[in-house]
Amino acid sequence: MSDPIDFAALPDDFAWGVATSAYQIEGAVAEDGRSPSIWDTFSHTPGKIDNNDTGDLACDHYHRWREDIELMKQLDVDAYRFSIAWPRVVPGGEGPVNAKGLDFYEELVDTLLAAGITPSVTLYHWDLPQVLQDRGGWTERDTAEHLAAYASAVAERLGDRVTHWATLNEPLCSAWIGHLEGRMAPGLTDLTAAVQASYHLLLGHGLAAQAVRAAVPDAEVGIVNNLSTVEPATKSDADVLAARRMDGHTNRWWLDPVHGRGFPEDMREVYGVDLPERPGDAETIAQPLDWLGLNYYFPAVVADDPAGPAPYARQVRRLHVPRTGMDWEIDAHGIERLLLRLTHEYAPRRLYVTENGSAYPDIVRPDGSVDDPERTEYLLQHVAACARAARKGAPLAGYFAWSLLDNFEWAYGYDKRFGLVHVDYATQRRTIKGSGHRYHDIVRGHRRRPRRAA
Ligand code: IFM
Repeated sequence: MSDPIDFAALPDDFAWGVATSAYQIEGAVAEDGRSPSIWDTFSHTPGKIDNNDTGDLACDHYHRWREDIELMKQLDVDAYRFSIAWPRVVPGGEGPVNAKGLDFYEELVDTLLAAGITPSVTLYHWDLPQVLQDRGGWTERDTAEHLAAYASAVAERLGDRVTHWATLNEPLCSAWIGHLEGRMAPGLTDLTAAVQASYHLLLGHGLAAQAVRAAVPDAEVGIVNNLSTVEPATKSDADVLAARRMDGHTNRWWLDPVHGRGFPEDMREVYGVDLPERPGDAETIAQPLDWLGLNYYFPAVVADDPAGPAPYARQVRRLHVPRTGMDWEIDAHGIERLLLRLTHEYAPRRLYVTENGSAYPDIVRPDGSVDDPERTEYLLQHVAACARAARKGAPLAGYFAWSLLDNFEWAYGYDKRFGLVHVDYATQRRTIKGSGHRYHDIVRGHRRRPRRAA
């Protein structure tokens, strides 16, 4: 059973939110001038996605977004984190802006604001315009510059209404899973390409942060990373060193450069790939951050794997531990430990849990309701752990549940359901699950708690 949530540890203006991303929910991939992204290409490549699912229709959010805002109102959330599709806004990757693409997001933002829900915009959640991939994608420096130009166009249009901006979502997945492991778009298995992509993604982050701030002086700019606690599987020297490498690969490679510490020396040695560094880049990458976003799902327990790909460490599947439907180990203490680690090692001004959630195979009852006790328990455990971290000093300003809706779970297609709201993909009918109702209780519980003494 989960601990009670220490609501008093959370600030009065704590933001309770839900999160989604463009390709996972929007559909309408060929409407109003949108061009294909690398995920359109990847998902249409036979065998890449379970059941050969694609994001062509997804949750049809592009047409049903008003209904989805109504759902957010029913959940009574304070904030909505969503991403903007670069191929809708700048279909050529660079160059002319597609007004219709921006119109869509502008109407979404205006309707959110009218509903009292704060929009939190992520500029890049993996859907690179394919036309840029055809020219090398993130392995090319130009792509970082094009990201900044696209960010500028979005910020100029929405910046009078949106203050909360994230540059990148989980660059680790774009670089390591997309270019090294090949399980995500663009599907490469090339260490040099992966390391170059990681560099240009972080450079793009810095350039995009500058672009947003130039257009929106009061912008609050951050970056979203998916991080894990890392433990060695055994006490052997080999496993302890493997855990250190995995920590570098998963956590420090993404955190150190944006905090002005440069890329970790030990990991440069592990990868053995020259970074495409130019004078001034380190400073660009290390733009001051208003906030840091943590996406947390599972801990990593690792063993030495000299024959495997970098970082030559493999995740070990522990027996007799609870797991979600993704087969991911459940460890709510991990989110507390990471929030405290970020607090102590990187001293962020503010922290947000920008994603946290679990997938389970939900069952729709004959009366149409969806009861999901396991997801509810996961939610309660993790929110309680967040409050513990806040009690211990983490400057936690908000929590975004992943996800508002069941959606296209990348290489897993539609079988893995993370939503607080169930989506019947045949009819597009939405049903708030038991976990969604419980989240509503959490939001109200925090609002009704005794106020903190000044
Ligand atoms: O669905 C993804 C999301 O796009 C990024 N973070 C992890 C989620 C669950 O896998």
